[in-house]
Amino acid sequence: MLDNRGNLFAYLKGAVLNGMPMAKTRILMAVFLSLLLAACDSSQQSGDGGVASITQSVGDSGRWYRTSQVKAGGRIYAQHCTECHGQEGEGAPNWRKPEPDGKYPPPPLNGTGHAWHHPMQLLTKVIKEGSPPDQGKMPPWGDKLNDEEIISIIAWFQSYWPDQIYDAWLRRERQEQAREAQRG
Ligand code: HEC
Repeated sequence: MLDNRGNLFAYLKGAVLNGMPMAKTRILMAVFLSLLLAACDSSQQSGDGGVASITQSVGDSGRWYRTSQVKAGGRIYAQHCTECHGQEGEGAPNWRKPEPDGKYPPPPLNGTGHAWHHPMQLLTKVIKEGSPPDQGKMPPWGDKLNDEEIISIIAWFQSYWPDQIYDAWLRRERQEQAREAQRG
């Protein structure tokens, strides 16, 4: 990676010194930077099962997921999640109010709650690990569901999100990915 980067800047410097027009150099620079980012993403992908860079792709839904994932996710959701989060991810009616034990009822996942504040990696983490036992009542699913199943459930509930909510989530998601890439 560092090697690549070194070569790249040497090349760019060469291009500037050789009098390549600035505009062209800028375009080259942008292309190289996006290649660099892509390289970082794919190295990340091997580390965490692909969760971080999943949203880089565009599926046949026009969003990151494929409609087949939404279908599969809906079936898995109905089996495991409906009893708490509701048939269409509407959550408990009083989800904003803590119960007498101080813990919160199941929130909506259909875009009316704040699930859209969470980037992909955090959504999968919450589903895998559940809430910390002393803080909430979301059970952990990491033993019962694999990454692919969890990701398809996310696709399913995101398919309920209006474009405005989805776009706001995607902006945060991309910011998060850029931060991750910087951290290396
Ligand atoms: C026993 C009830 C219960 C079941 C079953 C359940 N959840 Fe939850 N879930 C909760 C509760 C309660 C919370 C809020 C947790 C907290 O306050 O810490 C939550 C939180 C979440 C969140 C975070 C939402 C946010 O806005 O921060 C996600 C995502 C989620 N659940 C997904 C799922 C998925 C997917 C399934 C099925 C595989 C599932 N849950 C099954 C009770 C449940």
